Amino acid sequence: MVSPPYLMQSNCQTLSSRKRYYKIMPVSKSDFDYIRELVLERSAIVLEDGKEYLVESRIGPVAKTEGFTTIGQLVETLRKNPQNGLQSKVIEALTTNETSFFRDIYPFETLKDAVLPELLKSRKHTKELNIWCAASSSGQEPYSIAMLIHENFPALLDWKINFIASDISERMLDRCRSGKFSQLDVNRGLPASFLVKYFEKNGPIWSIKEQFRKMIHFQSINLSRELPHLPKMDIIFLRNVLIYFDVEMKKKVLKQFRSILKPDGYLFLGGAETTLNIDESYVRMGIRYSSCYRLKR
Ligand SMILES: C[S@@+](CC[C@H](N)C(=O)[O-])C[C@H]1O[C@@H](n2cnc3c(N)ncnc32)[C@H](O)[C@@H]1O
Repeated sequence: MVSPPYLMQSNCQTLSSRKRYYKIMPVSKSDFDYIRELVLERSAIVLEDGKEYLVESRIGPVAKTEGFTTIGQLVETLRKNPQNGLQSKVIEALTTNETSFFRDIYPFETLKDAVLPELLKSRKHTKELNIWCAASSSGQEPYSIAMLIHENFPALLDWKINFIASDISERMLDRCRSGKFSQLDVNRGLPASFLVKYFEKNGPIWSIKEQFRKMIHFQSINLSRELPHLPKMDIIFLRNVLIYFDVEMKKKVLKQFRSILKPDGYLFLGGAETTLNIDESYVRMGIRYSSCYRLKR
C-alpha cells in the first residue's frame, strides 16, 4: 500500500511532492487498532481495515507537532494518560471536514423553492423558525443557508430565527465562528454576486459580514452522545456525517433526531445518506432533483 505524502521533511523513506521530501511515519497494527477504538468510542467515526494510510497521513503531523518522533510514542502517551488534550487532537485530526458553499446545490434549491415557502405560511402566526446545522464543519453550510434566507426571504428577517451550527471539532467551530474564508473556499460554490454582496476582503481573507455571524449560535455537539437540550427544529441539516458512522450509530442518531425535529419539520441528509432501512419513522420526500425527510404522521 502506498501512503500519501504528508508534511514531514526527511531524507529517508521519501515521497516527492513539490520537490520536497517527506518522511512517512508508519503505524503498527496495534497502534492503529488503539487509535481506531479511541476514535470510535469518542466520535463514532469508523476507521475500517485498510485506513492505516489515513492514520499515518493525519496523525503523523500531530505526532510531530507534539514532539514525538513516531506514532508509537504518541500512542504510548495516550495509553498512559488517556485524559489529556492529546486525545482531542487525535480525534479532530481524524474528522473529515470537506465542505463547500451550497454543496450539491439541489438541497438548497429545495430549501428555497419548497421548504421555506411552506414554513413561511405554516409559521406565520408565531414568526419563529428554528434551524440546526448539525455537522457544520468550517461554516460554509450554515452561512449558505443564512445568505439564501437573506437573498430570497426578506420577510423572514423580521422573524425570530434561532439558528444553531454545531460540530464535534473545536477547530472547525472556531473557523465557523470566525466567518473567515480563503480564496479557495470562496471559489467553491459561492456565486460571485454573493461574494461581492455578503463578504468583505481583508488581504487574502474573505470575511462574511457581521450580521450573518451574529445570526448563528455556534455550539459544540457530539452527535454520538446524548444531545443537549435544544429547541424543537423546523429545519435540520445533518449532511455528510452519518456516512462515517456504523448502522447502529446511524439508528441512534436518527432516533434522537425524531424528538428534536418538529412533527412537520424537515430533515436534510447528504446525497449518499438515507433513513431507508435504518429508521422507518421518517418518510423521504423527493422534490425535483433532491430529497428531504419528514416524520411519518
Ligand atoms: C464532511 S463534513 C460535512 C460538513 C457539511 N455538513 C457538509 O455537508 O458540507 C463532516 C463533519 O462532521 C463532523 N463530525 C464527525 N463526527 C461527529 C460527531 N460525532 N458529532 C458531531 N460532528 C461530527 C466533522 O467534524 C466534520 O466537520
